[in-house]
Amino acid sequence: MGSDARRRRAVLISLLTISLGACGSGIEPAGEAARRIDRLTTTMFWLGLIPMVVVVGIIVAIVLWRRRHRSPVTERHFVMGGGVVFSILLLVPVIVLTAVTQLNLGIDGDDRLEIEITGHQWWWDIRYVTDDGMVRTANELHVPTDTPIDLRLTSADVIHSVWIPELHGKIDLIPDQVNTLEIHVDEPGVYEGNCAEFCGIAHALMRLLVVAHPPAEFETWLAEETAPPQVDVDIATMQEFANSCAPCHTVRGLFDDHAYEGDFGPDLTHLASRRMIGANILPNTPEALARWIVDPEGAKPGNRMPDVGLDAEELTQILDLLRQLDGHG
Ligand code: CUA
Repeated sequence: MGSDARRRRAVLISLLTISLGACGSGIEPAGEAARRIDRLTTTMFWLGLIPMVVVVGIIVAIVLWRRRHRSPVTERHFVMGGGVVFSILLLVPVIVLTAVTQLNLGIDGDDRLEIEITGHQWWWDIRYVTDDGMVRTANELHVPTDTPIDLRLTSADVIHSVWIPELHGKIDLIPDQVNTLEIHVDEPGVYEGNCAEFCGIAHALMRLLVVAHPPAEFETWLAEETAPPQVDVDIATMQEFANSCAPCHTVRGLFDDHAYEGDFGPDLTHLASRRMIGANILPNTPEALARWIVDPEGAKPGNRMPDVGLDAEELTQILDLLRQLDGHG
C-alpha cells in the first residue's frame, strides 16, 4: 500500500473512532458529583466545537475573499482579534466554570457514612467502622444509595488513583496521607472502577466494583458482613488453611487465635459472596479460584501471591473452605 493510501486509511479510522466516540460511551452519571463533572465536560465540548467551526469558517472566508479583493482584515487584526481577544473571551468562562464546579463537588448532608479504602499493589482494602467493630472486605465496595458517603483514601505502598467514572472524577491514594472523595449514588446497581495511576506491573488489573444497595438492604449487608461465616470443615483443612493462606489472609472468626490473621493480602471473610476474584479480573467460580491458587502468576502477572504448592487433595480442602465463606442471604 502506498503512503498516501495508508494516510487516507489512518484518517478514515480516526474519523470513524471520533464519530463512534460521539455516539456516547454508555457511561451515564449515576451520582451528584459525576453529574456536575458531566455538565462541565459537555459545556467545554461545545465551547470548543462552536468556536472551532467559526474560526475555520473565518479562515476559509478570508482565503476566498483575498483571492479577489484586498482584504480589510490585516494579519495584525487577525492575530490580535483571533489569537488574543477571542481566546480570552473563550478561556475565561472555561476557567471560571471549572473552578466553580471543582469547588462544588462536595456532597452535602449529615449522617454521613465513612469508608476507609487503602490501595495496595494491586488490590483495594475496604474497611467500615460499625458499632460492632470493624468490618473489612476487599475489592468490592458496598454502599447505600441516597446517602452522603466519605471515602477516606490512602495507600500502603505506591501512589494509586481511584476512578469510578459513573460516580466521580479521579483522586489519588497517597501513602501517609488521607484524601477524601465524597460520593452520592442515585440508584442501586453495580458500577465499575479502576486504578487510574500507573502503580506497577498489574496496574491495569486493579479493578474496583461498587455495589450500591437501597439503604435498608445495605444495613442488612453490613450486618451479615459483620458476622463471621459459618464454616464446617475438618481439622486437616483448618491446618492447611492456617499454614498456606492465613499468613497473608484473614477470615474473621475462623480461628480463636488472632495469630492466624494475616493482612498482607485481601481479607477473605466473605469471599464466596463476592462477584469476582483477583481484584475483579476473574469470575468467582471454583475453576477460576483453583487457577488463581495453583498459578497466581499466570492468572495475574506480577501479583504478590506465591504458589504455595498445594497437592490435589490440599487444593480440594482449601476450595471447600473458601466456598463456605459466604454468610450473605
Ligand atoms: Cu494501583 Cu494503578
